[in-house]
Amino acid sequence: MQLEVKEISKKFYSGFFGNNVVDAVDVVSFDIKEGEVFGLVGGSGSGKTTVSKIIMGLLKPTSGSVFYYNRDLTKVSNHDWYYLRKEIQMVFQHPQMTFNPRRNIYFACAEPIRLYKLAKNKVEEKEMVEHLIERVGLTKDQLKKYPHELSGGQAQRLSITRALCLQPKFIICDEPTSMLDVSVQAQILELLKEIHDEFNITMLYISHDLEVIQSICDRVAVMKTGKIVEIGNTEELFNNPQHPYTKQLLESALYI
Ligand SMILES: Nc1ncnc2c1ncn2[C@@H]1O[C@H](COP(=O)(O)OP(=O)(O)OP(=O)(O)O)[C@@H](O)[C@H]1O
Ligand SMILES: [Mg+2]
Repeated sequence: MQLEVKEISKKFYSGFFGNNVVDAVDVVSFDIKEGEVFGLVGGSGSGKTTVSKIIMGLLKPTSGSVFYYNRDLTKVSNHDWYYLRKEIQMVFQHPQMTFNPRRNIYFACAEPIRLYKLAKNKVEEKEMVEHLIERVGLTKDQLKKYPHELSGGQAQRLSITRALCLQPKFIICDEPTSMLDVSVQAQILELLKEIHDEFNITMLYISHDLEVIQSICDRVAVMKTGKIVEIGNTEELFNNPQHPYTKQLLESALYI
């Protein structure tokens, strides 16, 4: 198994005495196989992003473990995360926030290549950047531009390029299309599907949009207030939902 999430929980404490407790993630478990696209769906505040941050090592769980090829990610040192980050990449909802506004698009693409010394020299680096930027549907001319000059869809293509530079084995997409226009959403979703097929990258795809989940995911888990209420093959789950919350999500989606 490539990824095994085992009974993870995350409590957040707030209030003056830390006496307000939020069970953001409450004993969540699921597995993801190599090459699979696994969906996490649920309403706002259900704990989806918290799960993804725990997997990425950006948050420590209150309890539980995450195994990546049998290695417990919750116990990995920062030094070892440097190597793991190359394999496990993330595409965020707000791509603009992940770019340095003062550096151009070329730099944004070359940065991970330099960090991991993936190119022998400048010529090879340029070739890699140009090849990937065209693969994701941007143009070489755009490399001279700055992040703020890109549209939302273009910025998301750029963040996908940055992830792809590292030839990752696993990508977490946290609502990568929710800030985009419907037509652009469809293009980015199509690009992610192509990338998955072409590079056989395993994906954890987070969304509150059932239609999107249905079009890309092999299996799906439905989250509600920190818990997984239902999990299974996407088609079966959507055709024959068992949990009332899943039924409610499907019904409300029909009226949007
Ligand atoms: N750093 C934090 N401190 C305190 N509470 C937090 C923190 N991060 C998240 N939470 C709370 O944990 C719960 C789960 O949040 P999370 O962001 O994981 O939900 P989500 O499913 O990703 O929601 P959305 O669909 O809106 O992105 C929410 O109640 C949220 O308010
Ligand atoms: Mg979220």
